Amino acid sequence: MAIEYRAERRTLTLLTDGSAYQMQLGALGYLLHLYYGPRCGDDLDYLHLPRDCGFSPNPHELTEGRGFSLDTLPQEYSGSNGADFRLPSVALETAAGVVGADLHVKSWEIRPGKYALAGLPASFAAEDEAETLAVTLSDEASGLEVELLYGVFPARDVITRAARIRNAGSERVTLRKAASACLDLPFGRWDFISFHGRHAMERQLERAPVRYGLQSAASRRGTSSHHNDPFTILCAHDATEDHGACYGLMPVYSGSHRTDVELDQGGSVRAVAGINPDGFSWRLLPGEAFETPELILAFSDEGLTGLSHRLHRFLRRNLIRGGEKQKRLPVLLNSWEACYFGVDEARMLALARGAKELGAGMLVLDDGWFANRFDDRRALGDWTVNREKFPGGLAGLHAKLEQEGMAFGLWVEPEMVSEDSALFRAHPDWALRVPGRPPALGRDQLVLDLGREEVAEYLHETLAALLRESGVCYVKWDMNRSICDVYSAALPPERQGEAAHRYMLGLYRLLDRLTGEFPEVLFEGCSGGGGRFDAGILAWCPQIWLSDDTDPIARLSIQQGASYGYPVAAVGAHVSASPNHQTGRTTPLGTRCTVAMAGSFGFELDPASLSEAEKAELCSQTAFFLRCRETIHNGLFYRLCAEDEAFTAWQFVAEDGHEALLTLVLKNPEANPAPLHLRLKGLDPAARYRLSDCAFFGCRNTPAALPRAEYSGAALLHAGLTLPQLLGDYPSARLLFEKL
Ligand code: GLA
Repeated sequence: MAIEYRAERRTLTLLTDGSAYQMQLGALGYLLHLYYGPRCGDDLDYLHLPRDCGFSPNPHELTEGRGFSLDTLPQEYSGSNGADFRLPSVALETAAGVVGADLHVKSWEIRPGKYALAGLPASFAAEDEAETLAVTLSDEASGLEVELLYGVFPARDVITRAARIRNAGSERVTLRKAASACLDLPFGRWDFISFHGRHAMERQLERAPVRYGLQSAASRRGTSSHHNDPFTILCAHDATEDHGACYGLMPVYSGSHRTDVELDQGGSVRAVAGINPDGFSWRLLPGEAFETPELILAFSDEGLTGLSHRLHRFLRRNLIRGGEKQKRLPVLLNSWEACYFGVDEARMLALARGAKELGAGMLVLDDGWFANRFDDRRALGDWTVNREKFPGGLAGLHAKLEQEGMAFGLWVEPEMVSEDSALFRAHPDWALRVPGRPPALGRDQLVLDLGREEVAEYLHETLAALLRESGVCYVKWDMNRSICDVYSAALPPERQGEAAHRYMLGLYRLLDRLTGEFPEVLFEGCSGGGGRFDAGILAWCPQIWLSDDTDPIARLSIQQGASYGYPVAAVGAHVSASPNHQTGRTTPLGTRCTVAMAGSFGFELDPASLSEAEKAELCSQTAFFLRCRETIHNGLFYRLCAEDEAFTAWQFVAEDGHEALLTLVLKNPEANPAPLHLRLKGLDPAARYRLSDCAFFGCRNTPAALPRAEYSGAALLHAGLTLPQLLGDYPSARLLFEKL
């Protein structure tokens, strides 16, 4: 049983193999949060002693004292405009102008399996893999009912949450905020870890002690954004990679989001996560319901690495659909950085032949193949192939690629429209724009109103025809601007606050239909790189292009940032030209491969610009990646050093432990350096390991060979390994250990 009810103390406990989450059906029917942490087999209400706290009001019904206040007690889903002045989880307004919600337990139920959410991406489970707790709360004044859903995955140490909010009254209610979940941590000192960034420099880790007052990680861009990843972590102030309590909060959502964290007067921390309430409202007529996106909660008392391992496994096994396609996917070469908009059939065939020499098996035709798309100012929306560039159409190109033994992939950006396009001329009202105000352009384009039925239908038909005609086995689904001027011509004034979320629902439905109808096609997400790299998109796209910055040194912090929550297999990463097109930096070819290997590994360059020796090197790197792909993508990932060290080192251990790959990139070579020393992780201390591959790339010196070919696991774990001195601009090392 993953969910226990103990009548004596009226506690409900959600149990995973390594964690317990406890709540109590408290006085007056308030649902109190008691605890989330390692299992401790007890009722934990004794922790929360009555406390008379000045300026913290008490419920009218309780006359026996001032010890009970919603303002001081931890809660499962906080109301608003009541006695709790901390962060609300739900805010609403009734037709009579009453605001706020005071939520009391009405009923609760344990259900087999995992709940589902209609129209939203969510984790899934085999029947015996998860259980659901549903607790229904109600607010008497408005008639609102909130069904709190908890999915408990014992073997994964994961609890998922969502709220189903229903108007059970007789008057309309408008939601102003509807968070996915609230998590109160009543005791302890916590740090908040978030991942900020910008276009082409995403997912930069920031860790800071939780301060009194509010701190947030949020996006108002209609996308999960380059700027603030929706994934955040609360960890013990002294938690490290290997030790300490860590909570991961991962919204399964790709639109505007917000995770607020607040430290209150009594030292209690509250996190509330979900759709960003700024600009959001949702009208519920009597009988109507609204479902929030899901929030994945993972707990680890084995530090940040343990948290990452739990989330990686959970996302791979219980969220991402179609991940097995990645195992068969040939290594691809993408045309973007090789030709930008200058694509045509002859160039594509030349790229394909060159790609083959690098060991790649698929050519991806990026932007520039349709209508008059000669630059980024026009033609989005007109998804018909340009016959001057491709006389035989996409089917013709596909046939010729097949003759070369190459698979075919295609780039699309379906959610957008250029003003200079036949689609916009025919349907100007299909773009999101505020009446009476010229809409802001992003990359010279506008955003289609995907919340609108006919727009989504049109896109479905167009894309399905395109996929059939081209016969591609891979699609790169791009989205190249932030969404503003949100106003839907299809919605009445009082429902305009719904437009942004309806857009997401339209997008999810479209992705669901297309991935269902084309099960063999692998969809890779993209939004100018990592503008929509999130668990919502991952539900349909097993991999997402992580950043438009392909510079391997810049990529170290971007990919390391992503690794805290997202599996390596989800990370789109390519080997590109040097000097790098985004940063102008020159890096060794082998180092570019070492970094791209910690992801999907593909190419984003013109093979014709390579020497024969470079082609041979890339061919052997491709073979090495394919040899190790399973370990890299589906094994356990370890970060071996902090961001501020002179080098970045990562380790990938096969899930069954039979091999471990260590990579290291030197970011900052020093004169007369201290020894380059590392302790390995995740090995079997009792086993012996053979160093079966050891390669150094881009060194100006000839690194000394390692003195030994065999090591005990315990030695590598505890004493570690010393690498020879590496000199030069960004050299790297790659070592493969096989368990004997
Ligand atoms: C975005 C993507 C790039 C490329 C271009 C094409 O920026 O992130 O990889 O596909 O669009 O316009």
